[in-house]
Amino acid sequence: MTDPDLANIQERALAEIRAAATLAELEAARVAHTGRRSPLAETLAGIGGLPPDRRGVVGKAANLARRAVEQALATRTEELEAEEMGAALERDATDVTLPGDPHPLGALHPITQVRQEMEDILLALGYRISDGPEVETEWHNFTALNTPAGHPARSPSDTFFVDGRPDRMLRTQTSPVQVREMQQSQPPIYLVAPGVVYRRDDIDATHSPMFHQMEGLAVDEGLTMAHLKGTMLHFFRELLGSEREILLQPHFFPFTEPSVDVQVSYIDKNGRPAWLELAGAGMVDPNVLESCGIDSERYTGFAFGCGLDRIAMIRFGVPDLRLFFENDLRFLEQFA
Ligand code: PHE
Repeated sequence: MTDPDLANIQERALAEIRAAATLAELEAARVAHTGRRSPLAETLAGIGGLPPDRRGVVGKAANLARRAVEQALATRTEELEAEEMGAALERDATDVTLPGDPHPLGALHPITQVRQEMEDILLALGYRISDGPEVETEWHNFTALNTPAGHPARSPSDTFFVDGRPDRMLRTQTSPVQVREMQQSQPPIYLVAPGVVYRRDDIDATHSPMFHQMEGLAVDEGLTMAHLKGTMLHFFRELLGSEREILLQPHFFPFTEPSVDVQVSYIDKNGRPAWLELAGAGMVDPNVLESCGIDSERYTGFAFGCGLDRIAMIRFGVPDLRLFFENDLRFLEQFA
């Protein structure tokens, strides 16, 4: 083995490494020129068998050649990797001239839309939004609302009890939110509480065992029936049109006294003016104020509650309540 031989080996290795056009070709060159069978490896392995006076010279030259080849391999690897990455990036780059992927927009459920409109009207009047549990105690849902044991509203045939306990039920109305709020805070109280309620009704076009209500409560000094009426008139005109009139008809609710049915004018399908019953309301019974720790000598209040689904049906001209709960996109897309 002579120096010119080593120079030759190195020369060929470097040339092939530089000529490698892909990482695969480079790997082949690496095996050929630094692998165990390569001339360079064999030279290095043979040093021990050389005459002692040659070992130093050849060993040094062979090691230099090996370092040069390794250096060339490292450099070319980096170059090829950078090239391949660049090519990959170019391949995957977004072509901004292609048409975009369609991205369907969702929309709010019609009942949510109506709820938000109702909330907005009352928020603008200074009310705040409140909330309560759907699993209620008998006390919050009935007793504190002046609905004593034996009252027909408490009939087990109307109420879903939970875990077979007579004191645990799905709320049948949003009115228990009134109780929870009045227990927690002192007047002035102005709140609106939308939510789901449950009654043991059979499902048909206008009934569902699960439906939505919105409760309103105002407790302050000096509130009268006139405030209730003005609030209801404003509320329904904002919601259903400024031409609406309202009619308060005497009614009964255990927790309000006096109580009224709020009827709203509309034009029926024969073009005749008629009335639609859209809310229950009344002046909060002093018994209810007292059972919640509010001084009924100093404060008065009014409350109202209406069915959200019913109003959404009127609002959107939907003839069957069930459509709202079936989640059929063909129906829901019409409100997007
Ligand atoms: N909670 C009553 C119902 O479900 C409605 C109502 C609310 C009546 C507030 C008066 C005051 O029928």
